[in-house]
Amino acid sequence: MSRSKSSKRTKFVCNNCGYESPKWLGKCPNCGAWNSFVEVRLTDIDDRGWLVKKDKTSPVTLGKILAVKRERFPTGIDEVDRVLGGGIVPGSLILIGGDPGIGKSTLLLQIAGRLSERDKKILYVTAEESLEQVAERSRRLGVSNDNIYVLAESDMKEIINNIEDLDPDVVFVDSIQTVYHPELTSAPGSVSQVRECAAEFMRLAKSKNIATFLVGHVTKDGSLAGPRTLEHMVDSVIYLEGERQMGLRILRSVKNRYGSTNEIGVFEMNENGLVEVLNPSSHFIGSLDEKQIGVAVISLLEGMRPLLVEVQALVAPSTFSVPQRNTTGFDSRRLSMILAVLEIITGYSLRNSDIFVNITGGLKISESGGDLGVAMAIVSSFRRIPLPPRAIFIGELGLGGEIRRVNGIQKRLGEAERLGFKTAYIPYTTEKVPVDKLKVVKVKNIEEAIQSCVG
Ligand code: TYD
Ligand code: MG
Repeated sequence: MSRSKSSKRTKFVCNNCGYESPKWLGKCPNCGAWNSFVEVRLTDIDDRGWLVKKDKTSPVTLGKILAVKRERFPTGIDEVDRVLGGGIVPGSLILIGGDPGIGKSTLLLQIAGRLSERDKKILYVTAEESLEQVAERSRRLGVSNDNIYVLAESDMKEIINNIEDLDPDVVFVDSIQTVYHPELTSAPGSVSQVRECAAEFMRLAKSKNIATFLVGHVTKDGSLAGPRTLEHMVDSVIYLEGERQMGLRILRSVKNRYGSTNEIGVFEMNENGLVEVLNPSSHFIGSLDEKQIGVAVISLLEGMRPLLVEVQALVAPSTFSVPQRNTTGFDSRRLSMILAVLEIITGYSLRNSDIFVNITGGLKISESGGDLGVAMAIVSSFRRIPLPPRAIFIGELGLGGEIRRVNGIQKRLGEAERLGFKTAYIPYTTEKVPVDKLKVVKVKNIEEAIQSCVG
């Protein structure tokens, strides 16, 4: 709705019934609707002063749509491009979530730096920090370029004006929770503010073909406060995760309208910002030759990319009436299932023990292919016998104790081979598994695995 003064260049049309008027009316004299008049520009009005009808919509063949290639521009940071599905799609709206202090602003500024070197015009809207703070961080990161414009503003109307004037290729909004729409009475960061502002950015992104990144802070329980409600609106959602104390950061795509999800990028935070980790598996596993009790290496498939990570388990006599079950990076319900299967199948008495399971490197496991390794780490700790050195465990544990197949076994084995592993325990299959340097042990069930590893 627009109340701006009517001029010869505009007319007003009732959104409800189509009644036309040279000036704005509160109530439509034709249909009686209130606040239904919208302003129509002259470009939409033909010589006779009539509304130009929009082209009729009609179906298009899929082939024709597919023939139009969606161009993307890479950021130049491989780990970011991988997560985005090959680069930034012009006009797309991307939400980047993460805990406060995890490195979102750092990452965005680094992306801005790389894009500006590729002659992209960038607008960095800082609604949270002052210009000096942004400048200080840029100095630290070595980002400086005349293609990067920084705007310290949280008023949505001002931001829109600036975007329209500058017409950048990419806009970064840091953060969506601190931007506010002056026409709304609710507080910045509230659901209605966040949604309304995001909708404005969406409109700008699509109408002006400007790729837009929105930063959203995450609450403790892992959901985006307020911005969670944006997940269905935006084109892509990526999260920056990691333990704050540890340097490792994982960039993860959870929604992507223009590519696959579950791709991850791995970074390390050091004094010069986020640095790409080119060989992540070796980051997540300790010394291969040390014999450690309660430690197993498992393989995860993150998107197209296999990652080897270490699982640590500790089984200790409990002093509590209800023994503790404590997990870091592993689903506690999945652990309960594994423990129940182990108890029933092996007869181990685990119910009086405190049990801790830890995935190293701050990773969170969301796939079941790590079950066998977690079970074996628990067995190793319970029996006080280390697992074979340079061994990797791949497989899902079924409720009957059977080891079930997982996808991408070839990729997972390839990564283990590359990193110098000697033995791989995998689900039973009659197919031949082509590997050169790896001894493959196919196990049908958890008993076979235990028998083979710790006797
Ligand atoms: P920041 O990007 O401000 O986090 P967010 O925007 O997600 O809240 O990064 C915060 C932390 O990163 C801060 O504690 C300092 C650290 N940091 C480095 O270790 N190295 C660096 O080069 C930079 C810029 C920040
Ligand atoms: Mg920040």
